[in-house]
Amino acid sequence: MSPAIEDLFEAASAARALAHAPYSGFAVGAALRDETGAVHAGCNVENAAYPVGTCAEAGAIAAMVAGGGRRIRAILVLGAGSTLVTPCGACRQRIREFAEGATPVHVAGPEGLRRSFSLDELLPASFGPENLGDRR
Ligand code: THU
Repeated sequence: MSPAIEDLFEAASAARALAHAPYSGFAVGAALRDETGAVHAGCNVENAAYPVGTCAEAGAIAAMVAGGGRRIRAILVLGAGSTLVTPCGACRQRIREFAEGATPVHVAGPEGLRRSFSLDELLPASFGPENLGDRR
């Protein structure tokens, strides 16, 4: 793992250890690097009213925005199990709001990095802020 990815892995791992996932039992951590180089992390936060729960990526993005960051340069998602924990569809769109198509989305397990994608691979032909043009 490169040092840059290692930083994200460590931050995601620490956030995952704090996840509130009593219903699924599936703890997830996410960490991203913004345009200033700062790292922001989040974990999933479930709720007794199930649909109200939030994903780790949403937490990391909220932390970035609240910290003044506006661009995602790289993001890493960490979850256990034998299959890749890629971001859910809604989170792919959440990432899209702040990232380029070429932005790396790293997927890790507790043991380390498993695979890296570009956002474009995960969300092809996406709709983003540019689509709204002058209406913004
Ligand atoms: N989850 C995430 O936090 N991120 C993902 O990329 C996949 C799923 C959470 C949502 C829910 O709390 C639990 O994992 C099971 O779906």
